[in-house]
Amino acid sequence: MSVIDRRNTGSEKWERWQGRDILPMWVADMDFAAPPCVLDALRARLDHGVLGYTRTMPTFGEALAGWLRRRHGWAIDPGWVLSAPGMVVAMDQAARILGEPGSDGLVLTPIYPPFLRAPGHAGRRCVRVPLAGAEIDWEALERAAGPAANVLWLCSPHNPTGRVWTRAELERLANFVLRHDLHVVSDEAWMDLVLEPGCRHLPFASLSPEIAARTITIVAPSKTFNLPGLSCAAVIIPDAALRSAYGKADLGLVPWPNLLGLTAAEAAWSRGDTWLDGLLPRLRANRDASHAAVNSLTGLTSRLPQATYLTWIDCTERAWPDPAARFEQSGLGLSDGRPFDGDGFVRLNYACPEETLAEGLRRLRICAAP
Ligand SMILES: Cc1ncc(COP(=O)(O)O)c(C=O)c1O
Repeated sequence: MSVIDRRNTGSEKWERWQGRDILPMWVADMDFAAPPCVLDALRARLDHGVLGYTRTMPTFGEALAGWLRRRHGWAIDPGWVLSAPGMVVAMDQAARILGEPGSDGLVLTPIYPPFLRAPGHAGRRCVRVPLAGAEIDWEALERAAGPAANVLWLCSPHNPTGRVWTRAELERLANFVLRHDLHVVSDEAWMDLVLEPGCRHLPFASLSPEIAARTITIVAPSKTFNLPGLSCAAVIIPDAALRSAYGKADLGLVPWPNLLGLTAAEAAWSRGDTWLDGLLPRLRANRDASHAAVNSLTGLTSRLPQATYLTWIDCTERAWPDPAARFEQSGLGLSDGRPFDGDGFVRLNYACPEETLAEGLRRLRICAAP
């Protein structure tokens, strides 16, 4: 894939260190163009010329239902699907309707930072349950599930560890949820970017009708097709009462759907299969190269991410006070682990052309030289 110059395009990733020789490999978007089928659909929509207030049409849920059936073997009713202007908004909206103010939401850490904030935005408590490496600490999870526990916040596949939860793990979580009578918010942003050949993403709500009835699943085309700038996500709520409560919880803060986001999502989910099939081997090669590079360096380690395009790097052995700042000084812009609840870690985004990756890994080696 060729290098596209993203400087001076208002890119969050590339503007952060504007004018400085720091290669950005942090926030989770890819340095690749969106699929041609999406760009064609956007052009066709613009050619119509009128960009008025927009509603989410049934075709949105239908396109997602087709995608989930083809890619994940999950049969949903398109009527369960609502649109949202991004996954984080949907998380905040879900937090408002689950549990009572003051109740507990359980979150497995380290985690994509908005998970740590969503319960608090709605006056709920966020109870952090640290993973043991990249494994669920079942005893800690049981201890955390006190009488005030109401919601399990699940990130599946998991950002930042790149874990794809196995069927056995998800079934054990389902059992846990039923025993403690919890609702689940399952963020499946990374469902399509499973890179490890033996692993398969299993939508949590697909485990059983009982689980579906207590789960709010949030997905988006933003990671898979590199469309986060279009602010469009989907919320899947099989239970009618829960869906209605969610729909009423926008409190006038959530805007109308973004016309171009909906257009892009429908095109991607309807016709994006071949493009994604071409992307996955590229990401897998980058993953392997980054993993090998990190683990060849003294005192730095990472586990092979099973999914995502992110490598979670453990720098604790080096005892640097601020690893992200240290990488920055060597010209490499990584995500600081601390907002994820990962002190001593950094996160590297390897979704870029080969040349960019090679330069990033060169800078990584310079930084890690003793
Ligand atoms: C787990 C997870 N959920 C949600 C998001 C945000 O998605 P969006 O930009 O579509 O709201 C991200 C972005 O990196 C993510 O990693």
